[in-house]
Amino acid sequence: MTPRKIIIDTDPGQDDAAAIMLALASPELDVLGITAVAGNVPLALTARNAGIITEICGRGDVPVFSGASAPLRRKLVTAEHVHGKSGLDGVELFEPGRPLESQDAIDFIIDTLRTEPEGTVTLCALGPLTNIATVFERVPGVVSRVREIVLMGGGFFEGGNITPSAEFNIYVDPEAADIVFSSGAPITMMPLDVTHKVLTTAARVERLRGNGNRPSMVMADMLEFFERFDEHKYGTDGGPLHDPTVIAWLLDPDMFSGRRCNVEIETVSELTLGATVVDWWKVTDRPENAFVVKDVDSDRFFDLFIERVGRL
Ligand code: RIB
Ligand code: CA
Repeated sequence: MTPRKIIIDTDPGQDDAAAIMLALASPELDVLGITAVAGNVPLALTARNAGIITEICGRGDVPVFSGASAPLRRKLVTAEHVHGKSGLDGVELFEPGRPLESQDAIDFIIDTLRTEPEGTVTLCALGPLTNIATVFERVPGVVSRVREIVLMGGGFFEGGNITPSAEFNIYVDPEAADIVFSSGAPITMMPLDVTHKVLTTAARVERLRGNGNRPSMVMADMLEFFERFDEHKYGTDGGPLHDPTVIAWLLDPDMFSGRRCNVEIETVSELTLGATVVDWWKVTDRPENAFVVKDVDSDRFFDLFIERVGRL
């Protein structure tokens, strides 16, 4: 079967690292490139971190591009309180051997969408949507060439994680999210409602460590740092492994369930800025612009994640 072509747009982040590892370990996927965006930590670090992760996976063949250093219209908000100052706290870091590509991430995404056959490239968005919104603003014509945007972001029954009503990726750049959700591109949304159901419990992290290979050991150390914030906040065993749900959707969508809904983004009210207003119960006639995922078989998710990372 021909591998599915994807671009991973990301702000590593330990959970981004988990998503990248899952993708690089999966022969069903052809990772055309990784594009970094400012989010969890500033751009210079998210770009470097993406290179570190590809090198740990032995995939120095995958190019990394640097993208937007700030949201479209706002000051950058970062999340060192969750991810640590480096964005990948929990493990020893190093300068990646392969330098960043000289081409800007936005131009790489545009060129790839223009040159690859229409409807064959999937955008996997793991951070603020600044890069993708910039692509759509600069060249609206490429929207119709996108096969699917699968994004981690938003929340509805679960509320928010950076404010009571907003999830971090959307909150950082709500104008970018509004552009993407209004673009008409096919969107699959992985909100907190599903990501809060995939918890890195001690038993799961130990199973991961039991793989014995370097990527698994590194990932287990990263997760043990990453999960401490949410364990304390939510009183849970483990923290939500947000971003790999995007990749797992591509590999085994039947582990998830959801429905097509209208999703609108709050870009005006300071109280609810970045909220994803999901018409789950169809109380409006607003167009259904996204498939919103709500549930997941979490054991099946971790079986996939742990088995695949063990292959690296
Ligand atoms: O709210 C969780 C999301 O914000 C994840 O993608 C995490 O990596 C951060 O980017
Ligand atoms: Ca992320």
